[in-house]
Amino acid sequence: MPLLELERVLLTETEITTRVRELGEQITQDYRHLVDKEADEPNILAIGVMKGVVPFYADLCRAIDLPLAFDFISVSSYGKATSSIGAVKILKDLDASLENYHVLMVEDIVDTGLTLAYLKENFLRRKPLSFKIVTFLDKPDRREAPITADYNGFVIPDAFVVGYGMDCSECYRNLPYVAVVKSGENVGCKFTPYNKKTVF
Ligand code: IMP
Repeated sequence: MPLLELERVLLTETEITTRVRELGEQITQDYRHLVDKEADEPNILAIGVMKGVVPFYADLCRAIDLPLAFDFISVSSYGKATSSIGAVKILKDLDASLENYHVLMVEDIVDTGLTLAYLKENFLRRKPLSFKIVTFLDKPDRREAPITADYNGFVIPDAFVVGYGMDCSECYRNLPYVAVVKSGENVGCKFTPYNKKTVF
């Protein structure tokens, strides 16, 4: 049962809301001078890395008080377990070409850093006007690729987390908070219903 599989709440809804608002304000300040007021379309492109980023992307973009264009890329870097397989595959590429954009890549979590390192190199080859990364969570203890984000919501310990977009076998993405999965568990909860307000 999922009741037994989640250990504790790591980040509450309130903590998340406050921090995402701060990140939005910081990014607004840093990018304000880059806005092309003469252009017909936004020249800042927020790229979301699907699917775990969705809640963070939606909240962050609404906290950035500047014109933003949206695009998404879908990659797979994990199987259905709780450890990295170290391989990155593009499942859905961007719609936009990047030459005319200041790119802000938005990720849910940096773990080994392999996904981020791969995507950074891939995006830089497309020659954006500038490139920065914002991640919601950073797990520095497990880093394999030497990469850090330009903006980060929270540094967290080495634990597998779910909620606020992040999943375990596609479960728990719609929890409004972030919770730690019990260590040693390979959760197979796909078909088990749960109530997102009362999992504990
Ligand atoms: P990395 O390539 O190891 O940095 O992994 C990046 C991706 O792995 C993230 O975008 C997540 O989709 C997934 N991931 C890493 N750690 C966790 C976690 O604790 N919970 C859920 N997904 C995770």
